[in-house]
Amino acid sequence: MTDTPQPIHLRDYRPPAFLVDDVYLSFDLDPKATRVASRIRFRPNPDRLDDRFFLHGEGLRLLSARIDGLPVEPEIVEGGLTCEVPAVAFTWAAEVEIAPEDNLSLEGLYMSRGMYCTQCEAEGFRKITYYPDRPDVLAPFTVRIESDLPVQLSNGNPGESGTGWSEWHDPWPKPAYLFALVAGALVPVPDRFTTRSGRKVDLNIWVRPGDEPKCGFALEALKASMRWDEEVYGREYDLDVFNIVAVDDFNAGAMENKGLNIFNSAYVLASPETATDKDFERIESVIAHEYFHNWTGNRVTCRDWFQLCLKEGLTVFRDQQFTADMRSAPVKRIEDAAAILAHQFREDQGPLAHPVRPESFVEINNFYTITVYEKGAEVIGMLRRLVGDAAYDEAVALYFDRHDGRAVTIEDWLAAFEDVTGRDLSQFMRWYRQAGTPRVRVEEDFDDGTYMLRLTQHSPATADGSPKEPQVIPVAVGLLGQDGREVVPTRILELTEASQVFEFHDLDARPVPSLLREFSAPVVIERPESAAERAFLLAHDTDPFNRWRAAQVELKDTVAAMAMGGGAPPRNALLEGLRAAASDETQDPAFRALLLSLPAEEEFAQHIHSAGQTPDPTAIHAAAEALRGHVAEALADTLAGIRERHAVTGPYRPDAADAGRRALCNAALAYLSRIDGGAAARAQFDSADNMTNSFAALSCLVRIGQGDAALAAFESRWTDDRLVMDKWFALQVSGGAPDTAVATASRLTEHPDFDWRTPNRFRAVVGALPGNPAGFHAPDGSGYRFYADWLLRLDPVNPMTAARGSTAFATWRRYDDGRQALIAAELDRILAADGLSRDLAEMAGRIRGG
Ligand code: TRP
Ligand code: ZN
Repeated sequence: MTDTPQPIHLRDYRPPAFLVDDVYLSFDLDPKATRVASRIRFRPNPDRLDDRFFLHGEGLRLLSARIDGLPVEPEIVEGGLTCEVPAVAFTWAAEVEIAPEDNLSLEGLYMSRGMYCTQCEAEGFRKITYYPDRPDVLAPFTVRIESDLPVQLSNGNPGESGTGWSEWHDPWPKPAYLFALVAGALVPVPDRFTTRSGRKVDLNIWVRPGDEPKCGFALEALKASMRWDEEVYGREYDLDVFNIVAVDDFNAGAMENKGLNIFNSAYVLASPETATDKDFERIESVIAHEYFHNWTGNRVTCRDWFQLCLKEGLTVFRDQQFTADMRSAPVKRIEDAAAILAHQFREDQGPLAHPVRPESFVEINNFYTITVYEKGAEVIGMLRRLVGDAAYDEAVALYFDRHDGRAVTIEDWLAAFEDVTGRDLSQFMRWYRQAGTPRVRVEEDFDDGTYMLRLTQHSPATADGSPKEPQVIPVAVGLLGQDGREVVPTRILELTEASQVFEFHDLDARPVPSLLREFSAPVVIERPESAAERAFLLAHDTDPFNRWRAAQVELKDTVAAMAMGGGAPPRNALLEGLRAAASDETQDPAFRALLLSLPAEEEFAQHIHSAGQTPDPTAIHAAAEALRGHVAEALADTLAGIRERHAVTGPYRPDAADAGRRALCNAALAYLSRIDGGAAARAQFDSADNMTNSFAALSCLVRIGQGDAALAAFESRWTDDRLVMDKWFALQVSGGAPDTAVATASRLTEHPDFDWRTPNRFRAVVGALPGNPAGFHAPDGSGYRFYADWLLRLDPVNPMTAARGSTAFATWRRYDDGRQALIAAELDRILAADGLSRDLAEMAGRIRGG
């Protein structure tokens, strides 16, 4: 049994006792014995509250330490060292030894298939050398690398180099979490960008030989991001080089290290033959996200890790704006809203609920969550809606001017908005402090031409116990006449009190409200709504998000009724609504594809649970399958017509227009494969010249239990392509029949290419099982056991990824007693394991509950 890990609290923040004026690091790289020499100039912080000299360090072998040239004997303590130091500025010099080859946690300096690379956010730098590893200590870095590998990279601009060594200098003061180093037999794919003030920047994407042809799209996305940040936020790049490296072993998507972004290769490498439209879109947005961090995160950084949303929420908001500009704004808005509705609301309702700015944590890696990232972005969207676009631009510019080169807080961020607008944002601050999803109850009245809306807000208690006071909620509302025409265009109602009345005058008749347009706030609207009203909104609303929402809620109700009651086929109004929406040629195909898409089975479970009932994953799966069949039967001609009309001809292009048409055709194909025995999917699989269509067809075949031959063909064609094989692994587990899902996952763990230490592959096999809820929740508990076994195997090697995987258990309280007992037993088994990581101990403990 592991000791209960101790949380740290936001309220305990103390400024650093010492600041750093500059850092010199020298690396002599060796897989088993890398030497890291550091020379760090410290000076007492005038704002210090104590003068203890403490440097973080983990798993380091200290070889020597000197202060101002004289040997010292530091005291090694829990998590680092302390030492007697002078009362004035001094130079610390130390040498440590580390073994990157043995570092499988993928934090600190590690190796991935013969190349060296680093991951320092959040607290990985302390595995490289002794240092004040906290984001409020910023310094310029000079780095020397010695290695027999041909390419050696670090942050900033290149300095001198010779055979077997090179130097890098980063003039911009940065916290240690942005440090990066790479060395390997890599090749560059170069490009060039000229900033608007005329600075020429050398761009490079560094990959393994052979992967060069897969970098073009990412480079174009990078240049588009650089241009966009100049045009929209007035922010220019600030170094002579910008390097991106693709690595196969990586815990997350990518990392914004100053001037040297490191990417999971899945978010860089793409070709039409190997990547789907979704992969291309994802690459574009992750490239943009990491690039945008150069200002939101790097130039202006976080005072402490409680402020994580300061950089992540804002950077996600910026990458969402970018994608909206590059592609379709309404479609992007629906996709982002859908993620909040499906996943962030679920986090709020369960044991892992926490505010956008948490007040305590045990392991910060556990707080890189959808709440911090995506709800953090929603909060900024609300702020922009409340103050208006012009004031938003002015406030962000002020924030950059004021805090450039500093480590700041959410209070500093909001102060810029208060200063520009004169508005008091103390109530708005509750969005950062209170966990949970506010609910807004709607009551209506119509009398003598006046339509009255009473909005009443309340927030259910959340697992973290954070306070629940009325929040500032921007509710975007439009009104439709009974004939379907819009009679009042979108207006933002600002709900600040517990309950407020809003009036609309001079109406001819009682209108139909379209509430929370564009998903203007991350809240739940509580209003009794008939199927007829939903059909009306689906047909007539001018707001795409609300049209989509009307269809989704109706689909959820339908599947819930089918799963709970057996039978009850979908209402005709729903089928006709879908038919009309799908065949409406005035609308963007990408939008129509979204309208046709069924919510995930997990969302049906959430829907049933929210209605106070106990979801049965097996019944949900059967109901969702039956609904697909009903839709296919009813809309067969329409869907077949769509596939003919919108088939994309000519060479593959990953742009939004073509991708939207493929999405619509493949949504149609998914339905049609329910009634044609897979004939159309098989034909598409055999003739496809791009991964989007090939994989869509393969998925259809697997889902109807006809995938074996195609899976075998796919495997033999792509056996040497890791990223494509990840898709092949994941599809069989998440898309196969539920009653064999555990056996399939288990069999695939025996596959010679199942390397569980590589996170992408672990997630593709083990991590894909919860994506097959009826399989994962097998009533005999075999899914839970399999999953927990693998978390326990991964934990000692890679705690970050194991802990993240454990969130699949977070919904356990919604299921029946039998399943709850089985999951509780697995959580207890995890918690009782010897040497459990702090990461997994915190997560399993929070999920299990007190
Ligand atoms: N800051 C990174 C981003 O959002 C993500 C990140 C945080 C990360 N911690 C990580 C990536 C650990 C890899 C490993 O862009
Ligand atoms: Zn980020």
